[in-house]
Amino acid sequence: MDPDIQSSTIRRDGGRTAPLLIAQITDLHIGFDAGNPREMNRTRLEAVLREVCAAQPCPDIIVASGDLTENGVVEDYRTLKQLFDACPVPVLPMMGNHDLRDTFLEVFPDTPTHDGFIQYAVDKGPLRLVLLDTLEMGRHGGGFCDTRAAWLEARLAESDRPVVVFLHHPPMQTGIDWMTIAADEPWAAKVEQVIARHSNVVAVLAGHIHRPIIAAWAGTRVSVCPSTAPQVALDLREIDPAAPDGRPMIVAEPPGYGLHLWNGQTLISHYGVADIHPVLAAYTPQLQPMVQDFLEERDGRPTVAAE
Ligand SMILES: [Fe+2]
Ligand SMILES: [Fe+2]
Repeated sequence: MDPDIQSSTIRRDGGRTAPLLIAQITDLHIGFDAGNPREMNRTRLEAVLREVCAAQPCPDIIVASGDLTENGVVEDYRTLKQLFDACPVPVLPMMGNHDLRDTFLEVFPDTPTHDGFIQYAVDKGPLRLVLLDTLEMGRHGGGFCDTRAAWLEARLAESDRPVVVFLHHPPMQTGIDWMTIAADEPWAAKVEQVIARHSNVVAVLAGHIHRPIIAAWAGTRVSVCPSTAPQVALDLREIDPAAPDGRPMIVAEPPGYGLHLWNGQTLISHYGVADIHPVLAAYTPQLQPMVQDFLEERDGRPTVAAE
C-alpha cells in the first residue's frame, strides 16, 4: 500500500483498525457470445481485471457478485477460473440468476456451501464479508428462503465485526422498471427483516441491474455495482410490456467496477470504468499550489515545513 495513503487513513480513523480495500466486479456474463474466445464480455472483463489489479493501493480482495456466466456452461466457468487464477488478488465468486450451482462447483469445488447454497462468510482484516446466494432456479428476479435467512441471521449474530453483505439481486426497487422487483417482493422482505435487526451491517452491495445505484434501506444502504458486461440504459420511465417503444435497453457504456474502502469507521464506495480517458489535468508543479492549499485548509497546518 502507498505509505502516504496508509498514513492518511490511519490519521483519520485514529489508528483503531487497518484500512481495507474491496474491489467488486459483477455481471460478467461470460459465454453470451458462445464459442467466440474473444467475445466482447471477455475483453470487457479482462480490461476491468487489468485496471483493478493495477490499482494503487492494490485491493485486498475482489468479490465477483454473480452472473459470472450467461448460461452456467462449465467451459465458461473454466475460462473464468483461468482469468481469476491469473489475478494477483484473490477472487470470491458468487451466484447470480444466470449461474448454475452444479457446473460452477465442478470448476470451483473449494467454494464453501451451506445447505446446498453457495453462500459463505469471510473475515478479512477488520471486516466480515457475508456473500449470499439469491439464485432461485427458473426466476430472473432472485429468491431467498427461510434456510438461507437462518444462515444469514447466524452469521450476523456471531460476530461483532462490521459486516458487508453481498448479494446478486438488489433487495429494493431501483427505478429501472423492467429489471426491478415488486415493492412487496417476499424474498426481499425476508432479507430486510434479518438485516434490519443487525446494526453492524455497514453496507449491502449488489449487482444484477448493470448500473450504479445507491439507496438507503433497512437501516443501512444498498449500492449496486455497474457490470463488466454492457450496461442497462439509464431510463426511469415505466415500460409497457404490450407496446415496444424502441427505447434503448442495453448500451455499450464502458465496463464498470467498484472499489469499497473501509477506513476504520465507514465503508466508502467508488465506482469506476475501465476505459481510455484523456487526462485533462495532472499533478505537476503547476497544480502543486492548489493541492497544498486544499490540504492546508483541511489539516489546519502548512504542508511544507518552513526552511
Ligand atoms: Fe446480469
Ligand atoms: Fe442478474
